[in-house]
Amino acid sequence: MSRLWVFNGSPSFVDGAAAFITEAAAKAIAERGRFTLALSGGGTPKSVYARLAREDYRQRLAWDRVQVFFGDERCVPPDDPDSNYRMAREAWLDQGPIPVTNVHRIRGEDDPANEALRYEQEIRAWFRTAACPVFDLILLGLGDNGHTASLFPGTASLRERERLVVAQYVEVMRSWRVTFTAPLINAARSKAFLVRGAGKAQMIWNVREGPYQPDVWPAQLIEPAGGELHWLTDAAAAPRTRPD
Ligand code: 6PG
Repeated sequence: MSRLWVFNGSPSFVDGAAAFITEAAAKAIAERGRFTLALSGGGTPKSVYARLAREDYRQRLAWDRVQVFFGDERCVPPDDPDSNYRMAREAWLDQGPIPVTNVHRIRGEDDPANEALRYEQEIRAWFRTAACPVFDLILLGLGDNGHTASLFPGTASLRERERLVVAQYVEVMRSWRVTFTAPLINAARSKAFLVRGAGKAQMIWNVREGPYQPDVWPAQLIEPAGGELHWLTDAAAAPRTRPD
């Protein structure tokens, strides 16, 4: 199941996405007593995370039942301006609703290959499984070039089918990344792309309606796969017909 949500002002994209996340959390906590969430990075989710820190959202559920992981990280120190962890801390996590022991960051300051192995083991240990862990919700962004998480066009990470987390040198970014792989993302009960702005309209159309070429547009690797796939967008990003 794949669903397109277009938040066109009532509610706003930020409130629509924040409500989507809190409703998914409330459902998971009611059904299984916990909510396992993987955050996306970049710029789009920052305002959504900040909304979740607002008092009215803090009152909506038992945030101590929420476990927060990161779908990818730039290989930089945790206080670096490029750090996804720093972005999430400043926008949301430092406001306190989620216990710090429930936040599982990728150690961007460490050796990428070793950290990918360590993080995969941390995830497996937390889920207590040797099989593929099943997150309740994985948030995803969509890059201008069709990447998602840190699965970039033309990289070996796109072909990974065994590992859950890998390190990848991204030539176009001239930097190392640690990222969830497509198998781990697709195993989640729910995957939600958070994409806004006219600049993403063409790429959303490409990924959803264009020819299947995941090596070019890696976001096409993400499928419902027995769970749910959601596209949370605003009116500017969501093409009803092929954008010009
Ligand atoms: C990252 C993200 C990446 C991001 C997209 C979209 O670490 O950069 O995980 O996948 O979501 O690049 O970024 P924007 O939301 O800033 O356009």
